[in-house]
Amino acid sequence: MLKLKKIHVMNFKSLRDCQIKLGKFNVLIGANSSGKTNLVDLFLLLRKIYTEKNMNPFRYWWGYQNAVWNKKEEENISVKLFFNLKTKEKSYDIIFQTTFTGIGGQFRILKEKLEIKGFFKLTFENNRLKFVYEKEYFDKIWDEIDGLMKKRNDLREFILRGGEQFSDASQFREQNIWIQSRDLFEALKPRLSSPFLFDITPQKKFVSYILNSEPELHSKNFRNVIMVFDVPIKKSPNRKKHTTRGYYLLRQVTDMIIEFFSKILVLKLNITEIKRLVPIKKEEWLLEDGSTTNTVLYNLYLKEGGIPDGIVRILSRLFPEIEVKFSLTDDQRVYAKILENDLELPPVCIADGIYKILSISSALELKSSILIVDEIENSLYPKALEKILDEFKSADTMSIVTTHSPVVVDMTDPKDLIIAEKKAGETKFRRIKDPTAARKKLQDAGITFSEGWLYGNL
Ligand SMILES: Nc1ncnc2c1ncn2[C@@H]1O[C@H](COP(=O)(O)OP(=O)(O)OP(=O)(O)O)[C@@H](O)[C@H]1O
Ligand SMILES: [Mg+2]
Repeated sequence: MLKLKKIHVMNFKSLRDCQIKLGKFNVLIGANSSGKTNLVDLFLLLRKIYTEKNMNPFRYWWGYQNAVWNKKEEENISVKLFFNLKTKEKSYDIIFQTTFTGIGGQFRILKEKLEIKGFFKLTFENNRLKFVYEKEYFDKIWDEIDGLMKKRNDLREFILRGGEQFSDASQFREQNIWIQSRDLFEALKPRLSSPFLFDITPQKKFVSYILNSEPELHSKNFRNVIMVFDVPIKKSPNRKKHTTRGYYLLRQVTDMIIEFFSKILVLKLNITEIKRLVPIKKEEWLLEDGSTTNTVLYNLYLKEGGIPDGIVRILSRLFPEIEVKFSLTDDQRVYAKILENDLELPPVCIADGIYKILSISSALELKSSILIVDEIENSLYPKALEKILDEFKSADTMSIVTTHSPVVVDMTDPKDLIIAEKKAGETKFRRIKDPTAARKKLQDAGITFSEGWLYGNL
């Protein structure tokens, strides 16, 4: 699974030039208007662009001018995400950067970069896909190719006849391909089924096909090279089994990034919306206002043959006397109702806090890539908050919660706190430099962590 380690945002709302290091659990605190919700919105935006494929992802903010820093429409928004991927064998650092605009009401992705450190870098700009190997990796595979060529006289001869042009290895370090696509992942998709990477199979059979049927290939020479190198694999009876390392890695990484975007779960819960009766749909993601809570909960109930254990665990701790049931309306809308002792309550009679817990605990069940909850404290009393925060800390899912609540600050390990501050119209995020020392200093002064924060001592 991909882990998001850091974000660098440029020009989104008050996030003029912001870097944020992320842990597994992050509590974002800050004054009103410091930019907490703006960070939450950034994740909404990424999902709108890469998953919902929204034609106008800025509509939510009433247009690009409101989404771009200081309404400077001529500026582009840029988001750089730093991921880490751990496999059994190796750890990969992956950076994905996307730069886009919505000037004149027209959303356009201007540039995307995908870098797998130590391997290669892809840049997609102006419908041109550029592929650059890192020297170390290139040299390694080139040595293997060279070795292979020495062993395979037939191949060697073929190569010598077919393309003198690749006597210089440096030619292969950069490739340009013209492609019409909305984004990098789309651009790679059809091509990934006919891989274009230049690489070696584990069996040391050389494979490199680059769309040799594609007319838009930029470099004619390169095409010759590819056709030459395609030969050994065509001879192989079990061709499909030859997965090239670089190709396989790129495919895995792009799939994971796309999945990461599709599983971003943002909650800016609105109690009236949470209680909404919604038509039953088979697959439903939790929407940011909470308006699909009832279907999501019902789907989980159907899938697991009962309310999922995680939700039951939270509810029984906080509200031992209640039981959740469902009702369907004549027009196939579903809603949760609560049996409180013997009292059956429809949504309008259910406490806001109970419904909020239902919504957040359903979110925890959805296996999101990152769960972001704005103003976690709303509608919840301290014990409920504490229980929910414990669930966040022990969940597999990475999370960010924002809060104004001193109670939440005091319940949080100082190393998990991120402080948002806005100066001269720009948000900056920072962590507490030395959490242990800060805690001691405040303890010695006889004040709590939240008091320390409120009085500017963190
Ligand atoms: N396009 C923009 N350019 C620059 N700054 C902006 C832009 N849009 C919003 N802002 C700034 O962001 C602020 C709102 O930030 P945000 O909603 O993230 O605050 P918050 O920390 O969530 O506050 P609260 O605790 O009150 O919810 C606005 O008051 C404004 O200063
Ligand atoms: Mg806010």
